[in-house]
Amino acid sequence: QGYHVAVVGATGAVGQKMIETLEDRNFPISTISLLASKRSAGKKVLFNGEEVEIKEALPEAFEGVDIALFSAGGSISKKLAPEAVKRGAVVVDNTSAYRMDAEVPLVVPEVNKEDIKKHKGIIANPNCSTIQMVAALEPVREAFGLKRVIVSTYQAVSGAGTVAARELKDQSQAFLNGEELKPEILPVKGDEKHYPIAFNALPQIDVFQENGYTFEEMKMINETKKILHLDKLPVAATCVRLPFFTSHAESVYLEVEKDGASVAKLKELFEAAPGVVLEDDPENQSYPTPLSAEGKRDVFVGRIRRDLDQENGFHLWVVSDNLLKGAAWNSVQIAETIIENNWLK
Ligand code: A2P
Repeated sequence: QGYHVAVVGATGAVGQKMIETLEDRNFPISTISLLASKRSAGKKVLFNGEEVEIKEALPEAFEGVDIALFSAGGSISKKLAPEAVKRGAVVVDNTSAYRMDAEVPLVVPEVNKEDIKKHKGIIANPNCSTIQMVAALEPVREAFGLKRVIVSTYQAVSGAGTVAARELKDQSQAFLNGEELKPEILPVKGDEKHYPIAFNALPQIDVFQENGYTFEEMKMINETKKILHLDKLPVAATCVRLPFFTSHAESVYLEVEKDGASVAKLKELFEAAPGVVLEDDPENQSYPTPLSAEGKRDVFVGRIRRDLDQENGFHLWVVSDNLLKGAAWNSVQIAETIIENNWLK
């Protein structure tokens, strides 16, 4: 017994990881539909050792689909997710199209899987930076409550798609060859100005909002409140793109509500938390890095310190593979949770 699963954006950075994750997890599949733009239609991709032809993502492609995993950009989700739902599919959407829609559950299974129950056909996968942060915050929230969160991110280029990863590679080569850099994609594809990413740091991820924060920063702020069901939690974010390919790292400052928290207590909480791996041993220079987290499904936490001035304040370093827990794995995990709990309809 298996399900008809569709992957929309199957040729993209996240889509390819979705395909790999479905294979790795031995997801119960009877039929797989791999969908992308017209440009990719006809290309062949291996799935579980068999050739599958990429099809154009058109409304009719969702006939008979049980579960559709979307990662082809917000406008595609806006257009095609309702078409998939109309044809009886449950959609797990990895874009920002529906995340803040009050009707749509926004889910990190370790944190709020019960929210899935209320779905009306679409479940949203949060922003990659948000997912790994809330996975680390949840055990602390549960034990001590949260009073405030301030985060600065160190994000990989793959979050901006395969074209951004290509730009970093080409630019690095050009830089080392002493050639002129011609940035065309980053910080944001389609925005007015472009800056070099090679050997640089760009404090802009996604477009600027009227309040001076970028959209990525506002995603972290708003999505965190929604997932944790803490509408009033003060959250501030600064999101920065750095020249490496995979995994996002975050410096997270949090203040807890209740007394009794300590570095030792937080370590215990992270050790017990599902999906979280504690990697924190300064004596042995042990802490997670983007490279050490790459290819793994967990969220890694290290560098846990008590703030030197704020009694209930703590600092954490949180790292995870942005394409896996930040995207493909969290989406597949939502799909697995739906099946395990019989929440398809
Ligand atoms: P394609 O490869 O055919 O362009 P990334 O952000 O990593 O580059 O991935 C974008 C994904 O979204 C790709 O799989 C891409 O397919 C897909 N995509 C882009 N435009 C469309 C479209 N108009 N219809 C369906 N899929 C699209």
